[in-house]
Amino acid sequence: MAKIIAFLGSPRKKGNTATVLERILAGARDAGAEVESVFLHGMDLHPCQECLVCQSVPDEPGCAITDDMSGIYGKVLESDVIVLASPVFCWSVSAQMKILMDRMFCFFKFEEPELPRILIKDKGIATVLTAGGDEFDGADLAVEVIQRLARCMSADYRGHFVAAKLTTPDDVRKDEALLERAYQFGKRLA
Ligand SMILES: Cc1cc2nc3c(=O)[nH]c(=O)nc-3n(C[C@H](O)[C@H](O)[C@H](O)COP(=O)(O)O)c2cc1C
Repeated sequence: MAKIIAFLGSPRKKGNTATVLERILAGARDAGAEVESVFLHGMDLHPCQECLVCQSVPDEPGCAITDDMSGIYGKVLESDVIVLASPVFCWSVSAQMKILMDRMFCFFKFEEPELPRILIKDKGIATVLTAGGDEFDGADLAVEVIQRLARCMSADYRGHFVAAKLTTPDDVRKDEALLERAYQFGKRLA
């Protein structure tokens, strides 16, 4: 059974991204996956401080910062598929999601002979984005950012789900076509 860990990078627990992600995870669950969702906003998560302590710890994340990432590292290591779900903010992912992505640096061990050794190599990665603008008002760039991370990780990129031109969470909850598309995307992640 595939184990999916999803990270919600929106500041709104019941916002557009949460609604879409919930349907995606419902699809994945119905298709047999074990799913868990982590709401990043409000967690004690500090930006990467580039101390490079992690680079001297070979087989573990080895991050020097003690905050809620400690638990997240374990969840990522145990998962088969990582879903990064974010609203598009200023043509990129949200700040909450960016912290998570930067802090994943410690899964890469750059100073070893085979550069880099990646502790989370071959895991699946999927992108979920919601946007107020169209697909080319930043969602395209945010997709690219996550795809680059996936490529750097030698991950199995499982695709992206982009919900563009969204208005309010109430409208999104009523958009049955969008929610069905999300559900089907989730089924394919299992
Ligand atoms: C600070 C901020 C920046 C935003 N920047 C963009 C943007 O660059 N491109 C875009 O298409 N939408 C942008 N939006 C709209 C959000 O991406 C959109 O409303 C999203 O669905 C919100 O998701 P949420 O309810 O999960 O937070 C922005 C919204 C905010 C609040």
